[in-house]
Amino acid sequence: MKEKGSHTGFSSKAGVVLAAAGSAVGLGNIWKFPYEAGENGGGAFLIVYLLCVLLFGMPLLTTEFLIGRKSRKTTFSAFREISGSNRWQWMGWWSAVTIYILMGFYFVVTGWCFNYLYEALFNLYAGMDSAELLTHFAANMSDTPRMIVCSLVPVFLTAAVLWRGVNQGIERLSKILMPLLLVMMIVMAGRVLMLDGSNTGMRFLFEIDFSRITPTVFMKAAGQCFFSLSIGLGLLITYGSYMPDSQNVTMTSLQVVVLDTLVALLAGVIIFPAVFAFGFDPAEGPELVFVVLPAVLQNMSFAWFSGVLFFLLLCIAAITSTISLMEVEVAALTEFSNGRINRRRSVLITTAVTSLLVVVFILSMTGRCPSLRLFGRDLFELADGLVTTFMMPLGALSMSLFAGWFMPSKSIEIIPRSRSRFKRWLRPVFVFLLRWVVPLAILFIFLNGLGVL
Ligand code: PHE
Repeated sequence: MKEKGSHTGFSSKAGVVLAAAGSAVGLGNIWKFPYEAGENGGGAFLIVYLLCVLLFGMPLLTTEFLIGRKSRKTTFSAFREISGSNRWQWMGWWSAVTIYILMGFYFVVTGWCFNYLYEALFNLYAGMDSAELLTHFAANMSDTPRMIVCSLVPVFLTAAVLWRGVNQGIERLSKILMPLLLVMMIVMAGRVLMLDGSNTGMRFLFEIDFSRITPTVFMKAAGQCFFSLSIGLGLLITYGSYMPDSQNVTMTSLQVVVLDTLVALLAGVIIFPAVFAFGFDPAEGPELVFVVLPAVLQNMSFAWFSGVLFFLLLCIAAITSTISLMEVEVAALTEFSNGRINRRRSVLITTAVTSLLVVVFILSMTGRCPSLRLFGRDLFELADGLVTTFMMPLGALSMSLFAGWFMPSKSIEIIPRSRSRFKRWLRPVFVFLLRWVVPLAILFIFLNGLGVL
């Protein structure tokens, strides 16, 4: 059932949901969410996070899909197309640049996952205690050739999927990998919940200590919400442009949000009970899954199998996200060149640029090239901070202003009117959220981040 559109797109509604959920579900859910929750009060973080998902996530996700479907353009030119003016073209550039920076960072962490999958497969960290695992993690991180190989493997895998196209590549793969990921996670969560002492972990994640809700927790939760749902970069505009005309956009957004949140919760349910059952600190930081999990998994029955399963899961989640990131650049390049650069050439060019970027990031991170540092920090660290706490929220702010203030006055309405009673109130609620709640909350986050509040 192919429907109208200026370019080929997804062929089924389930395909759209699974591909977009594939973009959303990623390292943000399984790697970042547990350590952010661990550092920021567990249940307190969770409740603020859920609030952000509802207030910012849903309206922004819907907006991005709608901008894409209305314009049938990639992120790069959708704003210009819809507004009918060149004044908004900077958002296309903003998104293209931010996505490249994010890819530099994201592929490095995906490389860590592939490294650990390899180590789990060949039992390379077996028998190490937690202190040794920490040193092992640090040693891996500074091993330049290993990091380059491990990060370029996912770049090429992603390119191979994109090479096959939107429908044959992205959609087909998402339909296999996403259900597989969910089943694998449910199996793991079931195993972990059978551990003695898993209650403490569940209480840590689900019991809310209101005194721990601070502006900083709010800022972290909002950043996590943007990152985890892949919003604020306009990425889902490109996916929206592949969406069939008859698809209900609000329902699709809701399904993506529910799946994404479910996976983050499952990751928490896998990680925290295990962390507490084995006496680790939940506030371990970014190395949480890479240090604590191998330690925990080795002490469980079926250690080898569990280790391989967990890291495979992480790699799958990461790949479905890198596919969406690279797709936006591939589609933008083809569109920007007016089709002179065809899709496959565009995949090759994007892969080359991304590979180069990833290598530069790794050289900067491992200290091989001390000149590749800025403001005393390596590029990896800078990109993480810059993208999640600055560029994504700023993108989300611009998107909400665009949709909330500039769109309704145009002939094309972003949030469609509807006669059904439920949907009739949905529109004013979304417009209110986009006009006031999202921009003011992001402003608050910035002011707090700058130390003004
Ligand atoms: N949402 C992805 C994750 O949770 C990360 C991502 C962000 C992917 C932005 C695409 C765009 O890991």
